[in-house]
Amino acid sequence: MTTRIYAVDSVTMALQKSNPPNLVITAMGRTRTPLWSDPRLVAHVYVTEPQDGVQDFDFVATPPPQDVIVPQVLAPVTASAVIPEIDIENYWGADRPLAGVRCHAQSNAKTTLFHAPIGMPGCAEVLPEGGELSFAIDIRPLFRPVDIDMMIAVRNLDLGSHDAVTDHADVILARLRDGSMPCDGAWPATDVDLFERWISEGKTP
Ligand code: HEM
Repeated sequence: MTTRIYAVDSVTMALQKSNPPNLVITAMGRTRTPLWSDPRLVAHVYVTEPQDGVQDFDFVATPPPQDVIVPQVLAPVTASAVIPEIDIENYWGADRPLAGVRCHAQSNAKTTLFHAPIGMPGCAEVLPEGGELSFAIDIRPLFRPVDIDMMIAVRNLDLGSHDAVTDHADVILARLRDGSMPCDGAWPATDVDLFERWISEGKTP
């Protein structure tokens, strides 16, 4: 199973000067625990070309097995992708250039443009876009094995189950928001916001 990593910190592009050149995209980010494997950038495939001319990637990796106890510390992770023999000016078709690349993690996305507008940094941070959150990809990985085990034990509440979290979403949100859960330390506000947004978007599985 692969999952979007927790956060992306930087996205860089480099042209390898072959003829035609290859575009190498390198993203650096963080997972919520160590021992994630196989970090990759997975290119989105489009039916119609995106209006902003930006190629999107998901920054994914494979989480450690559920039965492995891992410390809750953020771990750095790097992944690269190559677009071979690229024709930047005609990437999306004749005279439709590639504007840049964007890498998506769970909590954010980062965009790097070839030609940043004057006065704008080349690297723009965007909030997670609307309508994309799902329990399996965005919410389920926020719960640690210890959260799931403890809450099944004390309240028979299975935080690993979409149905259970959907049924108890309001009380879970209240406890995350007031910082009383998890019992060993509150979530960062960005994660609580993400959970709230998942609720308001319809609790997609
Ligand atoms: C993200 C993780 C967690 C969430 C969302 C969560 C959520 C909740 C919720 C919603 C309740 C109230 C249930 C009810 O009133 O029926 C609760 C109670 C409780 N939880 Fe958690 N929990 C989490 C992690 C943990 C952990 C790691 C422990 C570790 C000991 C824990 C221990 C307890 C205990 C002892 C109660 C009952 C006492 C009380 O209501 O404060 N929980 N939790």
